[in-house]
Amino acid sequence: METKFLELKKDPEGAIAEAAGLIAAGEVVAFPTETVYGLGADGLQAEAVAKIFAAKGRPADNPLILHIADPEQIHVLTTGLNANARALMETFWPGPLTIVVPRSSVVPDIVTAGLDTVAVRMPSHPVAAALIRAAGCPIAAPSANVSGKPSPTNAKDVAEDMTGKVAAILDGGSCGIGVESTVVDTTSPVPTILRPGGITREMLEDRLGAVEIDPALNGDPALRPRAPGMKYRHYAPKAPLYLYEGEQAALRLTEAVQRSQKLGLHVGVLCDDAVKTRLEESLRRGHRAEIFSWGQGKPDLAEHLYELLRDFDRVSPDFIIGMGVDEKGLGLAVMNRLRKAAGYQILQAEDNTIVIKSG
Ligand code: TXA
Ligand code: MG
Repeated sequence: METKFLELKKDPEGAIAEAAGLIAAGEVVAFPTETVYGLGADGLQAEAVAKIFAAKGRPADNPLILHIADPEQIHVLTTGLNANARALMETFWPGPLTIVVPRSSVVPDIVTAGLDTVAVRMPSHPVAAALIRAAGCPIAAPSANVSGKPSPTNAKDVAEDMTGKVAAILDGGSCGIGVESTVVDTTSPVPTILRPGGITREMLEDRLGAVEIDPALNGDPALRPRAPGMKYRHYAPKAPLYLYEGEQAALRLTEAVQRSQKLGLHVGVLCDDAVKTRLEESLRRGHRAEIFSWGQGKPDLAEHLYELLRDFDRVSPDFIIGMGVDEKGLGLAVMNRLRKAAGYQILQAEDNTIVIKSG
């Protein structure tokens, strides 16, 4: 299949109209959102949605999110919304929050993977909103990566995975948030975070009071995640990734990089600007470390995490060592992705012993 590259800069309305026409005709189009790029098709046409699963190589038991441009569009998709669902929509839409609600019979089985609930989100990205409006239907969209790879946050990374597999890629530049939306199940007695993301646990608690987190998210293989997609080993770079966590993480990471250089190893390093600067000063010229920094705080880490994981694949180190951040705010979402990418190979930096936490 030939993949059209639609640039928004030149003719935004024309590009969106063309993409919307393809979606209405049952084709698949990649498009930007404020979190990551999505792979969109008409969410009410089962055959169109099947093309998404084919392009991604996505297991059929992993349901999709329906994207809408107006809160009113949710009513036809659900048999009813409770007070928690309404409160979340009012407070966080449009934005990086997906709510799981009871599904109506309008929603094809392929979208929900046969579940009796459906996930719905109203993105805030102006291109996503304009595309949904122009297509005139809810757009089913997973992240626009091949299953198992990090989600793409720019059109180049989408093209790497999807050229030849989808009708078009709508290039809207880089996504701002960089990690996927928070998925909250509103049907459980206490609203439950099934996937941490752009809307933080603290923000949800401020609005709803008590919020639970799916206990399966810590990687315990005995527990089955309630969001089917969370059971897969996503986001993994090709090289093994080891993650230092705790107060001493930066120090231990620095020592490990120095040791690896003495051994002549080609190591990838994932750290912040301050640690990168110190490492570069301490390493001898001609070192073989590929030091990638995310910038300064958690928002920078969220924004650049997936890009950096893909960059490591481009330089093929023997292994990668990274450092973690605390789980406050956006830290919960980025540490969920990082630990998964590391296959839960976590090095507890306080005592410098290796603790494989689980998984
Ligand atoms: O930010 C995002 O959410 C991006 C952009 C494109 O909107 N989309 C995204 O979709 O990350 P995807 O398919 O990669 O992840 C959706 C997650 C999966 O873990 C899936 O299992 C879960 O949501 N999910 C979807 N429907 C569900 C349902 N009815 N019940 C529980 N989990 C559900
Ligand atoms: Mg995904």
